[in-house]
Amino acid sequence: MFFAKSILALAALATTASAVALRAANDVFSPPVTSPTAGEVWTVGSVQTVTWDTSSIPAANQNQTGLILLGFVEDGSTDEHLDIENPLASNFPIRDGAVNVTVPQVATRDDYIVVLFGDSGNASPKFTIN
Ligand SMILES: *[C@@H]1O[C@H](CO)[C@@H](O)[C@H](O)[C@H]1NC(C)=O
Ligand SMILES: *[C@@H]1O[C@H](CO)[C@@H](O)[C@H](O)[C@H]1NC(C)=O
Repeated sequence: MFFAKSILALAALATTASAVALRAANDVFSPPVTSPTAGEVWTVGSVQTVTWDTSSIPAANQNQTGLILLGFVEDGSTDEHLDIENPLASNFPIRDGAVNVTVPQVATRDDYIVVLFGDSGNASPKFTIN
């Protein structure tokens, strides 16, 4: 009895896990940001290239457009303070793997991030704008 129950529980667990894996493979993708890198310094008004790894983009999503938002994350916090009102870039083909952005007039901080949205957001490491 105990064994039967355990096997049932295991089978249920395995089903859930593979459903999650399948969902991750088919529906959700978040291309890793490869630039800016940690500690990089951007100057206000300059043009910078944000790049990402396109190898994880499913075939069905190849024509999808992307969105890049600027945010910052203070030490000890997980709030990304994303500036939804002023996207750095939008409506570019996600398969391009790169887009040029003009650095907006923002306060100097060393904890800025950019977040690239495919299906779900993927954040860069922290960098500086001055
Ligand atoms: C993507 O766009 C190209 C060119 O318009 C088209 O040939 C292709 O079928 C599209 N792919 C998907 C998955 O929609
Ligand atoms: C970004 O700008 C550089 C310099 O003008 C240019 O060489 C490059 O092709 C641009 N990249 C994109 C993705 O537009």
